[in-house]
Amino acid sequence: MCGIVGYVGRSEAAPILLDGLRRLEYRGYDSAGVAIVNGETIETRKCAGRIANLAKLMTERPPAGQYGISHTRWATHGKVTDENAHPHFDHSGKIALVHNGVIENYAALREQLVREVGHKFTSDTDTEVLAHLIGSIYEQLDGKDSKARLVNATRAALKQVIGTYGIALVHAHIKDFLVGARRGSPLVLGVGKDENFLASDVSAIVAHTRDAVYLNDFDIVAVSRDTFEISSVGGDTGSYQISRVEFGAEDVNRGEFPHYMLKEIFEQADSVRDAMRGRLNTEECTAKLGGLNMTAAQLRDVTRIVLTGCGTALHAALVGEYLIEQLASLPVEVEYASEFRHRNTPMSGNTLVFAISQSGETADTLGALRESRRKGYRTLGICNNVASTVARESDGGVYMHAGPEIGVAATKSFTSQLVILTLIGLLLGRMRHLSTSEGSLIIEALEALPGQIESVLKLSDHIRAIAKEYVSVNGILFFGRQFNFPIALEGALKMKEITYLFAEGHPSAELKHGIIALVRPDLPSVFIAPDDAVFSKNLNNIEQVKARKGPIIALTSGDGRKQLKGIANDIIEIPRAADVVTPVLTVIPLQLLAYHMAVELGLDVDKPRNLAKSVTVE
Ligand code: G6P
Repeated sequence: MCGIVGYVGRSEAAPILLDGLRRLEYRGYDSAGVAIVNGETIETRKCAGRIANLAKLMTERPPAGQYGISHTRWATHGKVTDENAHPHFDHSGKIALVHNGVIENYAALREQLVREVGHKFTSDTDTEVLAHLIGSIYEQLDGKDSKARLVNATRAALKQVIGTYGIALVHAHIKDFLVGARRGSPLVLGVGKDENFLASDVSAIVAHTRDAVYLNDFDIVAVSRDTFEISSVGGDTGSYQISRVEFGAEDVNRGEFPHYMLKEIFEQADSVRDAMRGRLNTEECTAKLGGLNMTAAQLRDVTRIVLTGCGTALHAALVGEYLIEQLASLPVEVEYASEFRHRNTPMSGNTLVFAISQSGETADTLGALRESRRKGYRTLGICNNVASTVARESDGGVYMHAGPEIGVAATKSFTSQLVILTLIGLLLGRMRHLSTSEGSLIIEALEALPGQIESVLKLSDHIRAIAKEYVSVNGILFFGRQFNFPIALEGALKMKEITYLFAEGHPSAELKHGIIALVRPDLPSVFIAPDDAVFSKNLNNIEQVKARKGPIIALTSGDGRKQLKGIANDIIEIPRAADVVTPVLTVIPLQLLAYHMAVELGLDVDKPRNLAKSVTVE
C-alpha cells in the first residue's frame, strides 16, 4: 500500500530510486514520482500510471543529484492524477515529502493552515497537508543547525497528526540529508558504506546493502551519507539494532520466469521444505516450534484457538480450523481480522490467538492482534516478513521462511501457512490425544510434500491447455469439501484477483441450496475432489452439475480418475496424500489455472487492477 524509497550517498540517486520503486511496485501502482536534490534545486518527476511511465519521464529529462526520495502510490485520498502523485511539497516548495499511510485529521489541519497562514494546496491528498505542516513549523523554528531544525519540525508536525505514516523527506537547502519517520506503516533504514537508504521494504534496497534497521513506530531517523541518528517523536534517543537481511538481490529477481507469480508458484517445493525445516521431531513424532515462546504446560492449558487474517491468509486459517480441530481436538474459530475488533467475541483466559499475515503489515490483521493483546490474550504471529510489525508486536510466533513474495496474488505464502498450521496441530495434538503412530503418519505426509509438489508443478502445461479451453467464459465456480472447502474459496479468490472473472467458492454440498440455479453450459465448475474420505459425496455433487449440463473440471487423486472418467470434462490428477496435507497439493493447480487464464486474457498477472499486496489501511 504505497512504497517509498530514499537514498543519500555518492552515486546518482535516480537509478537507485527507480530500481527500488520497481521492487516496491507490488505495494501500489496508481502513480509514481521522485524528488532529487541537485545543488539547491529539487528536481521532480511524477506522473499517474505505472513506474514504466515514470521511467520514461526520467529518461527524457534525467534528474541529477546524489540524494532524494521516491514513491509508488496506491490511491486513498484523491483520484489517480499527476497532481496527486507523490512527492508533495510544502508552501515554500523547498521541502519534498513522500508518504505511505493515511493522515486521518488532514482536513482539519488543512483548514487550519489555510485559515492561519493562508496556504494554498495543489492536490487533494492528505500527504500535501503534512508537507505544508512540516514546512510551516520549520519556518517558525530558530536555530543555525538546519538539520536539527528539520527533524524538530517533523517531530512537532507528527505530534499533531492522527493516523499512520511511513515518510521520507528532503529539503532543497540541506545538503545530503533525509528525514524518515514511521507510525503504523513500515520503514526500514538500509545501512551502507558512505551511503544510506530508506525504504518501505528491504527488497527495495537489498541489491545495495543487507544491513538494515527496522524502525519502530514513532521513530524519527535523520540520515546522512555516513551517519544516521534515531530518536522518537516524543524526543527521546531511540535504541536500534542492525539486522542482516536473510535474502539477497537474486531472490527478488524474476529469473527466467515471465512473472513473479509463476516463479513463486514454482518455488513451493522449496518454500514448503523451508517451512518445516528443523521443526519436525521424528523421534517423538511431534513438531518443534520454539518461537511460540510457550512452555509445554502453557500449551497444554490452551482450551481454545482463534485464527485471524485477511484474504489468502484467512483461507489458510479456515484450513487451520479443520486441521487443528482434527489433530488436537481443540475448538478453533476463524475471525476475519477486519471484523474481529468490532465483535464482542467471547474469549476465555486460555484462548490462544494466531494472527496470520505474509507481510506482517496488514492494517486489519494488526488491528485484530492489538485488540486481542489489549484484552490480555496471548497472541502469536505467523508471518513471512522477518521483523514485520505483526512479528514484533506478538508474544511469539512462527516464521514462514518462504523468501520474498512479490506477485500481488499470494501463492507460496499460502502453502507455507498450511504447513505451519499442520505443525501447530501436530504439536498440540501430541500433547493431547494424538498417538505416536498418528503423529508419525503426519510427519511422513509432510516430508513427502516437496516431492509431490514437484509432480503437481509438472501439470502446468496440461493446466494451460485447460485454461485455453475456458478462456472465454464469464465466470467460474469452485467447490470442495472438508479440508478442501477453503481451497475452493482460495481458488476463486486467485481467479478473481488476476483474471477479473466472476468466481465463487462454496462447500460442494451447498450446491443444492441455491448455487445450482447458476449452473448452465457456459459456466464451468471446478471440483476439488481428491480420493479422500469425502470423495463419494463430492461425486454426487459433480453428478448434479453434470445432469444440468454444467462443464466440470475435476481435481482428483488415486482412484478418483477412474470414477470421474466420462463425467468430468477435464481431469487434473495430483498425487494421493494424507487428507490433512492434501490442501497443499490441491491449491497449486488452482493457482496455475488462474495464472494461465490471466496470461491467456493478456492481463498483468503480477499487478492486478485496484489491488495492492500489502494493505496498510483499514
Ligand atoms: C491483500 C493481498 C492479498 C493478501 C492479503 C493479506 O489483500 O492482495 O493477496 O492475501 O492482503 O495479506 P497478508 O500480508 O496479511 O498475508
